[in-house]
Formats: sequence, C-alpha cells, structure tokens
Amino acid sequence: MKFTKILSLVLAIMMLFVLVSCGNTNDEGKDTDTDTSAVSDSDTVADTDAETPSDDTIVMATNAYFPPYEYYEGETIIGIDAEIAAEIAKKLGKTLVIEDMEFNSITTAVNEGSVDFGMAGMTITEDRLLEVDFSSSYANGVQVIIVKEDSPITTVDDLYSEGASYKVGVQLGTTGDTYSSDDFGADRVVQYVTGNEAVLALAGGSVDCVIIDNEPAKAYVEANEGLKILDTTYADEDYAICVKKGNTELLDQINAAIVELTEDGTIDAIIDKYIK
Ligand code: ARG
Repeated sequence: MKFTKILSLVLAIMMLFVLVSCGNTNDEGKDTDTDTSAVSDSDTVADTDAETPSDDTIVMATNAYFPPYEYYEGETIIGIDAEIAAEIAKKLGKTLVIEDMEFNSITTAVNEGSVDFGMAGMTITEDRLLEVDFSSSYANGVQVIIVKEDSPITTVDDLYSEGASYKVGVQLGTTGDTYSSDDFGADRVVQYVTGNEAVLALAGGSVDCVIIDNEPAKAYVEANEGLKILDTTYADEDYAICVKKGNTELLDQINAAIVELTEDGTIDAIIDKYIK
C-alpha cells in the first residue's frame, strides 16, 4: 500500500515536471534574452527578444568570447562572424538569431538540429569533418603563442625541447587544445572554458603560455598588461561555417552566399572593419 502511494506521488511529480518543461520549451525565446543576440546595424537581425526560431529565422551557434570574430558589446554579439552571418541570412531571406554557447558544444548543437549552423572562427579540421560539414573558408587564422613579457619561452621550439615542462593554457575543444595536447602531452595542457580565462591564468602565473588564434590573442594582450605574442607561428588555419552532416541544401546556400559576398567585396569590408 505504502509503496503504491509513494509510486503515485512520484508519478504525479514526474507529470508535473513534464508539463513544466513543455511549457518552457514553448517559451524558449523568452529566457534566452541574455544569450540570444545579434548584430546591430542590419535589418536582417533579430532583437534580443527573439521568439522561438521559426521558418523566418536562421539560428547560428557561436562562442562569443572571441574578438574580433564574435564578442559582446553590451548585450549584443558583434564581430566579423556576426556580420558575415547577418549578410548570409539576408541572402537567404531570413532573420539571424545568434546563440552563444561553449565552443565545445557547437558541433553537437549543429548535429542535434537545435541550431542551423555554427560560426565561431572555427577551423576546418579532419576530426571535425567526421562530425559536421564545412562551407568554403571565409577567413584565415594563425595559432600563436602568448607569454609573459619576461618569459623564458622565446620560440615555439622551446615548447618542444627535450625535458620542457612548460604548461600551455588553451580554450577547451579548440585546435589550440587538440594540437598542443597531441604535441606536448595532455598533462602539460590546461583547458579553460574561454580564451580569456586562459589568458588570465597566464597573467596569474598558473600556465606558462597560451596557444590561441592570432586576432583574439591581440585583443587579449591589449587588455592585459605584461603579456606579448611570440613572433612565431604554431599553426595556420582556415575558418569556415559548419552545418549538420549531410545538410547539403543549407550548405549550398551558404556557399553560394559566400561566393557572392566575396565577389562584391562585402566579406573583405567586414574583415577590414575589425582587423586594422
Ligand atoms: N580556430 C580555433 C578552432 O577552431 C578556435 C576557435 C574558437 N572560437 C571561439 N568563438 N571561441 O578550434
């Protein structure tokens, strides 16, 4: 008797929970006010009160702690990727909605279909190509090394040298993370959720260097005293947009838009606006 009572209580609670979470799903747009954002100077852009994504919207996943590609200005996500994405959305006749998430979650979100595409200064890699499809590349990146001004590390070779035990800070799930884990061993690599946290760890002395993309590196070094970027390249990369594996319809549309936006100079103009 007692057991069945408990059981029905549990069932009742479970049903309530299901009802509540259904309600939430329908209202999704409302509680994403702070992290659903978009570029400002375009008519294709959603305001921060964007409702649940519909046929008129196209949802981009990013990690908005990566200046000048994506970063917050107030509550709005701006940057090279945000602006190029807005132009692509315009070509597709859609309103762009940007969803900010951990970098490491972007390809999963794309494959689960909770977003339409990922754009986050994301490098085309062999590993990622197994998971998602990439558009043609719209920009290049370079993995660089940030150190303290008085660091004994002066070139990338110092990291490889026999017996070196320098700790490398990286953003979790980025190429800086996977490449340096492969090259120097996972025990020398410390992963942070954002690049900024990795740089703060460097400034605070918990790691000896940070490996990260060159443009955000410049922004981080500018914002934190006593740091410098080594004049040495760790890796050259191509950035592209990712879509769910097999979504050739969207991929073709995105690629066609990239061709047009390259030919008419829009992409160059956007990049030049952010990278002097
Ligand atoms: N290019 C690197 C990669 O693809 C880092 C990208 C990080 N992007 C970001 N929005 N946090 O792994």
